[in-house]
Amino acid sequence: MVLDSRANKSNSYGDCVRIGEPISDAQQVSRIKEEAMALGPWRKGPFEIHGVRIDGQWDSSLKWKRALAAADLFGGIQGKRVCDVGCNNGYYLFRALEAGASFALGLDPAAAFEQQFRFITRDLDEARIQFRKVGYQSLLEHKEAFDVIFCMGVIYHQRNPYELLDALRDSLAPGGIVVLETLGANLDDRVIVPAGKYAGQGGIWMVPGPTAVLNMLKRSGFGMNRTVDEWDARDEQQRTAFADLPPMREFYHESGSRTVEGYEVPLRYLFVAKR
Ligand SMILES: C[S@@+](CC[C@H](N)C(=O)[O-])C[C@H]1O[C@@H](n2cnc3c(N)ncnc32)[C@H](O)[C@@H]1O
Repeated sequence: MVLDSRANKSNSYGDCVRIGEPISDAQQVSRIKEEAMALGPWRKGPFEIHGVRIDGQWDSSLKWKRALAAADLFGGIQGKRVCDVGCNNGYYLFRALEAGASFALGLDPAAAFEQQFRFITRDLDEARIQFRKVGYQSLLEHKEAFDVIFCMGVIYHQRNPYELLDALRDSLAPGGIVVLETLGANLDDRVIVPAGKYAGQGGIWMVPGPTAVLNMLKRSGFGMNRTVDEWDARDEQQRTAFADLPPMREFYHESGSRTVEGYEVPLRYLFVAKR
């Protein structure tokens, strides 16, 4: 059964992305739950698929509100060609459509997140959204293709952050904007390069101060860049039935001002940069 996204009133792309008419048959409901569970952990959400609620580790609606408000300061995304680099399971792609994007392409190299996206969309006919299981490196195929690029929660996971910024710049149409969000710390133009884990997490190659990110954007050739938002996200992570993962705040020193490894605690920063 394929549900046309525009015709079907059960589909809505608000804070909780709802797809498919709610199902009352208990067996079908538990089958959907089991399938979703097997595809977990779900890091981003919430979704409701045929009435089955899937809460992710992060309540992604909170970051989306900030990201959209940032884009709105620079012309918004209504009618714009949008790309979400590091889109995870695609949560923000739906939100971009809700905000009026003409289409939204998501890139993410992780097979597990692509599977979640395919599960979410398997009964959906939504030509305005596409997911490609590739990294930012494939932006080379999309020169000057987008008006707005979201790249959130990605840069600190990269070994070559300048390569990422160059790719973002080159795939923006002239005058286009990137909404860049990152984990960082109150370090001004300095950067922590963790010896190993940072707040219990692996795969973090740098924890930048906000001025360091602005300097990187400037040195990557963005014409205008601004810090738009800064916040403490420690309460935005939760353990859920679909994501039984420890939140970062469990890896803070008991004083609350350092991580267990002794580093400055994380904050989130959001920037807008214009090509
Ligand atoms: C911390 S999550 C952030 C997800 C989402 N953008 C958000 O802000 O909520 C980082 C995402 O980047 C993806 N990623 C890792 N390497 C990447 C690459 N080379 N290009 C694009 N995305 C990448 C991961 O698979 C993961 O989904």
